[in-house]
Amino acid sequence: DFILNFVSDNRWKFITSGLKNTLIITFLAVLIGVALGMIVAVVRSSYDKNYADMHKGLNEFLLKIANAICKIYLTVIRGTPVVVQLMIMYYIIFATSRNSLMVAVIAFGINSGAYVAEIVRSGIMSIDQGQLEAGRSLGFDYKRTMWYIIIPQAFKNILPALANEFIVLLKETSVAGYVTIRDLTMGGNIIRAATYSAFMPLIAVAVIYLVLVMFFTKIVSILERSLRKSER
Ligand code: ARG
Repeated sequence: DFILNFVSDNRWKFITSGLKNTLIITFLAVLIGVALGMIVAVVRSSYDKNYADMHKGLNEFLLKIANAICKIYLTVIRGTPVVVQLMIMYYIIFATSRNSLMVAVIAFGINSGAYVAEIVRSGIMSIDQGQLEAGRSLGFDYKRTMWYIIIPQAFKNILPALANEFIVLLKETSVAGYVTIRDLTMGGNIIRAATYSAFMPLIAVAVIYLVLVMFFTKIVSILERSLRKSER
């Protein structure tokens, strides 16, 4: 009874502290995801047959191994539910660590990386082969051509898809409660359990997700517009 009263009296605290955890997990995970995704995408498209004669400098054997590892990573991560990955991380891989927030960041980061990898790869493929040839004929090596010529142009093309990934990830973190994290959704559920109000806490939570997504979408559309300026 004491606990129920405590929760009822501190409802907004469960929402605000949950929101904080949701944002921490999402932002850190998206950073890991983008870094990981870019590496995987570059490895995968470097292995692409069309580019074969473009990267004489790279070690063919290492590239083959790296490509195989990336393929397994993509298959396993995209083929299994994120909740299961999260629980494997928490109960098996990091069984000795009780910092569940960091475990969640890593789990969601690795999960997001697989989706980001395919987004970035599609971005790289959207850039004309001639750009790579131009970079190479200007004396850039393969890595520099990728980093200074291909990736910046690809980034502009994939910005909407990356923004989409962020939105998906934000809402996907709602399963963090499975590993004892009090995120936004868990906050709503605790209030639900304590107040017997079955629906309103979830509506409140949903509205908060909606506002976050709208705010973020606005920022991205501003960024998109300023990047388009260079095209005119
Ligand atoms: N809900 C699905 C799952 O559990 C999709 C996850 C999508 N994740 C992402 N970062 N885009 O696997």
